[in-house]
Amino acid sequence: MRVLGIETTCDETAAAVVETDETGRPFIRSNEVLSQIAAHAAYGGVVPEIAARAHVEVVDRLVARALEQAGLKLADMDGVAAAAGPGLIGGVMIGLTTAKALALVAGKSLIAVNHLEGHALTPRLIEQVNFPYLLLLASGGHTQLIAVRGVGDYVRLGTTVDDAIGEAFDKVAKMLGLGYPGGPKVEAEAAGGDALRFALPRPMLGRPVADFSLSGLKTAVRLEAERIVPLRPRDVADLCASFQAAVVDVVVDRTRTALRSFHEKAGYPTALVVAGGVAANQAIRRGLTRLAAESGLRLVAPPLPLCTDNGAIIAWAGLERLRLGLVDDLTVAARPRWPL
Ligand code: KG4
Ligand code: ZN
Repeated sequence: MRVLGIETTCDETAAAVVETDETGRPFIRSNEVLSQIAAHAAYGGVVPEIAARAHVEVVDRLVARALEQAGLKLADMDGVAAAAGPGLIGGVMIGLTTAKALALVAGKSLIAVNHLEGHALTPRLIEQVNFPYLLLLASGGHTQLIAVRGVGDYVRLGTTVDDAIGEAFDKVAKMLGLGYPGGPKVEAEAAGGDALRFALPRPMLGRPVADFSLSGLKTAVRLEAERIVPLRPRDVADLCASFQAAVVDVVVDRTRTALRSFHEKAGYPTALVVAGGVAANQAIRRGLTRLAAESGLRLVAPPLPLCTDNGAIIAWAGLERLRLGLVDDLTVAARPRWPL
């Protein structure tokens, strides 16, 4: 089975071809991603109008390139999948409309994929991970702890009441003058900093429900930064290290809480899975590796290019849905908000 996947929900335009062999084992035939980071960097974040225009300009070319890299034609596909939300609506409409047009002209199945489902099913694209598993999805727009019980069967165990984790990294980076996207920059600064210098809060630690709150931590970083004049590189590194250490503590504690409530909703998890752009953070991965070991679980973390937004995760979620007969018709709508 083969599916072409298109991703345009945020600031990456992406297209990919994923296939399965006779045994159902997946293989990524191509995965083309064009990041718009440079176009948004000057604004310190993603500008929706700029994003939509950029998607329109390149999406056709990316689809053509994904097919070419795969050595295949549209006619060789069984389905065309696109992320139909959640995300910036202008971009989502462009990807979904492109997929509809391709599916229509080639007479292929259309699969409207929830972008979050793309992240949620990614571990199954790289290794055999059986349901149910606990997913920590952490990106610039989403922070969720989800019991993944099956394709299309998700129970949310926790979420953020304010900022997403990636968003907190981005905001801290911005206030320290590190630029966008902030996650990798904060991580790089933290590597040379003293995590014990600033005593920052660990919001929600120990709470019985696995929710996150990050805006207080972000504010605490700002207040510390404002107190230091002038702010030297050493201070920035120490602030980043202290911030990241607080985030790791919070992430591990909240995930541990979700694991405790997992069995009531979904039985016993086969794995702890981390996905989304923040999963690129090595300190967070180390914290989760410790937690998984202490819980007798294995940690599954996708390789970095599959953590951040890309077409392969959408193609794969589309394929998982298609083989269960979960397809959509051409009337399916783009959804700016779409909880899993
Ligand atoms: O999944 P993603 O590519 O896009 C969506 O938001 O859907 O995630 C991007 C987010 C950004 O907020 C970025 O700062 C964060 O992931 N991120 C990181 C790291 N790399 C990317 N956060 C912390 N540490 C990193 N190394
Ligand atoms: Zn994403």
